[in-house]
Amino acid sequence: MENIYNIAKFAHVLGFAFMSIPLFNLIVVNERALMGPSFNYETDRYFENIIKRGAVRCYVFQFTVFISGLIIVVIGPGISAMITNWVLATKTIILFSLMGLLSYVHFSLQPKIEELLSSFDSNNEPPENFASMLAPFRIKRKKLATLCLFLVITAIILGLQTYIRHDPLVTIGLILLAAIFSYRANKSLIRFGWF
Ligand code: HEM
Repeated sequence: MENIYNIAKFAHVLGFAFMSIPLFNLIVVNERALMGPSFNYETDRYFENIIKRGAVRCYVFQFTVFISGLIIVVIGPGISAMITNWVLATKTIILFSLMGLLSYVHFSLQPKIEELLSSFDSNNEPPENFASMLAPFRIKRKKLATLCLFLVITAIILGLQTYIRHDPLVTIGLILLAAIFSYRANKSLIRFGWF
C-alpha cells in the first residue's frame, strides 16, 4: 500500500507541475503579439495548433491529478476527508473549475477561432480586418488562461498544507503573489522567469 501511495503522490506532483500549460500558452501568446497585429496564415496556424492541442494535454494532466488525488485520499485519511478537510474540498472545487474553464475554451471559444481560420489557407488572402475578427475570442481566451494559472498556483499553495496548515497570513501573502505573477504573465513575456 505504501508503494502505491508513493507512486500516486509522485503522479500527483508531476500532474500539477505539467498543468502549467496556461503559463506557457500565455508566453506563446505574448511572443505572437511581438510579431505585430496583422494576420499571417502560417504563423497563426502554428500558434493556434499549439494552443488547441495544449487543451487535450491539459485534460490528461488534470485527470492525473484527480485520480492520483483520489488514490492518496482513499489510502490515506479516507474519502470523507474530501468534505471534512477544507483544503482538500477547496482543491477539488478548484480542479473542477479548471476542467470547466478548459472545456469552455476547448468546446466553445476554440471552435469559433477554428471556424474563422478554416476559411483560409496559405494560398488565399484574408480580409484586411481579419485579425480584429479573431481578437475578441483570443482576448477572452487569454483572460481565462490567466485565471487558470492563478487557480493552479492557488491549488498548489493549498496542497502544501493539506494536513499541516501555514499561518493564514503566509497563505494570503502567497495567494497575493500568485495573483501578481499571473497578471505579469498576462501582460509581459516574463523574460527572467518570475519577472
Ligand atoms: C488543481 C488540483 C490540485 C493541486 C494543484 C494539488 C496539489 C497538491 C500539492 C502541492 C500537494 C503537496 C504534495 C507534497 O506534500 O509533496 C498535494 C497533496 C495532496 N493532495 Fe492534491 N492537489 C490537487 C487536487 C487534489 C485532489 C482533487 C485531491 C483529492 C481528491 C487531492 C489530494 C491530495 C492529498 C490527499 C494530498 C496529501 C498527500 C500527502 O501529503 O501525503 N489533491 N496536492
